[in-house]
Amino acid sequence: MRIDVITIFPDYLAPLELSLIGKARRDGVLDVRVHDLRDFTHDRHRTVDDTPFGGGAGMVMKPQPWKEALDALGAAADGGEGMRPRLIVPGPSGRRLDQTLARELAQEEWLAFACGRYEGIDERVYEYASESLGWQVDVVSLGDYVLNGGEVAVLAMVEAIGRLVPGVVGNPESLVEESHEDGLLEYPVYTKPASWDDGSVVREVPPVLLSGDHAAIARWRHEQRLARTAQRRPDLLHPSLVVEGLGDLDLRLATPADVPELMVLTRACWIEEVAEVAPHWAGPVETVAEHTADLREWRTWVVRSHGRLIGSVRARRKPGEPHRWWIGRLMVAPDLAGEGLGRALLAFAEGQAPEDVTEFWLNTGRSRTRNQRFYRKAGYRVIPGESEVHPMTVDLRKPRR
Ligand code: ADE
Repeated sequence: MRIDVITIFPDYLAPLELSLIGKARRDGVLDVRVHDLRDFTHDRHRTVDDTPFGGGAGMVMKPQPWKEALDALGAAADGGEGMRPRLIVPGPSGRRLDQTLARELAQEEWLAFACGRYEGIDERVYEYASESLGWQVDVVSLGDYVLNGGEVAVLAMVEAIGRLVPGVVGNPESLVEESHEDGLLEYPVYTKPASWDDGSVVREVPPVLLSGDHAAIARWRHEQRLARTAQRRPDLLHPSLVVEGLGDLDLRLATPADVPELMVLTRACWIEEVAEVAPHWAGPVETVAEHTADLREWRTWVVRSHGRLIGSVRARRKPGEPHRWWIGRLMVAPDLAGEGLGRALLAFAEGQAPEDVTEFWLNTGRSRTRNQRFYRKAGYRVIPGESEVHPMTVDLRKPRR
């Protein structure tokens, strides 16, 4: 990946020579080039700013040096004809950087960062880049606070994006079990010694981690992730879902505490199917332990209205199918069927798919014509032939737009 950074403080970007990003540069995986905006000025003082039209405090970055700097980048497109960077302008008024956006930007071949200072860059520079140069321009914010300029933000962005570029992090497995990769924060980690004397207290590693019981360790870690997310970032567990007629509903990632009610809903929703066509199907007779284990494999959401669990859906990527987002167990309490909750939950589950997913898949009973009609309306089409899941069922697919 090529990365250009335009700044009036090139020295600020020196840390990009260190650690994994520095190594990736030396290995030729990242081609990072830092440019001094003042090299594109023509006066003795190398002026890059002036007073704002309309009055107000502070100074604004002048358009001409920026135009010349961007033109120089475009002209140096040694990647060949038609190569254009995606221009990222760090700023507190932009889209917030998160892991989804970092993953999206890591797919680009060429990113250019324009570091603003003072009160910002003359707005016509953005128009010039998008309309005259035809570049995609995005303002991206690190968070809801104000920095003195874009340089610190670029350091953070290049690290967050760069580490997702193949070859930058030696062991790609270490990228999977991380905070924000699947909507939960990371579990706490410990290393030797198992018993550590801090000078006044002897502190122990949680015994389960020394047990050698991998299933128990996975269970403990998952519970820690949920507890930590609930305590530090409840907003991540708690997106909102508005369904006309049902109002503003409480939508959360399911926890083991939801399992008994989920079991009741599962039985209510699938009892007919089991009686009529699929006595083989385990869903409605799964145990608490099986449902709880599923919460680790799938991201499962539950919807409540005034405390009552009225719906649920789950989704995941399956191993070996990186571009397919499986959606399952779409359930609505029987008395609320037809109110639009199913449609809203399905759209929500689709919206949770990682950026690089290209298709949605689900599975339903071969004879469940009402379900199939519902999915057809939502853009799904039955895959002819045997289902991958079970012969009594059909698989349905919808390409992501
Ligand atoms: N420049 C100034 N404040 C910023 C922020 N919050 N994020 C990105 N760039 C900035």
